[in-house]
Amino acid sequence: MKILFLNGPNLNLLGQREPETYGRLTLGEIEGLVRKKAAELGVEIDFRQSNHEGELVTWIQEGRTTFQAIVINAAAYTHTSIALRDAISAAGLPTVEIHLSNTHARESFRHHSLIAPVCSGVILGFGAQSYVLGLLAAFNIIGVSK
Ligand code: DQA
Repeated sequence: MKILFLNGPNLNLLGQREPETYGRLTLGEIEGLVRKKAAELGVEIDFRQSNHEGELVTWIQEGRTTFQAIVINAAAYTHTSIALRDAISAAGLPTVEIHLSNTHARESFRHHSLIAPVCSGVILGFGAQSYVLGLLAAFNIIGVSK
């Protein structure tokens, strides 16, 4: 079982970036938490970050044949990217949208997600644990759909 974790723009700055909103862990440390839980579950993961919308689209397209599910923190592209939404829809893989912060408690432009309608579900507001919960959700969906 292989799950693809995708991270959008500015998430490479976690740890330094607005820690009061996003916490103090780096993306590498969050990846470590995910890998620990994935090892317990016996799941293989690929964990990637890009600041480029097109690169994320390409990874989703390519992922169709290699992975059984996607967990994505699309960051700001969540609120703007029809291209990412179309890629998720076209890939047809169960996809879990995640966010560190509770976007509904923030600026109104963060309240709307363009990708949520093509995702299986959304997990937000639990900081780094959103990633671990995203893994558990994807694991559960794959298990249920098998
Ligand atoms: C975020 C929320 C987005 O609104 C924001 O643009 C991010 C991070 C989160 O994980 O809380 O970059 O996706």
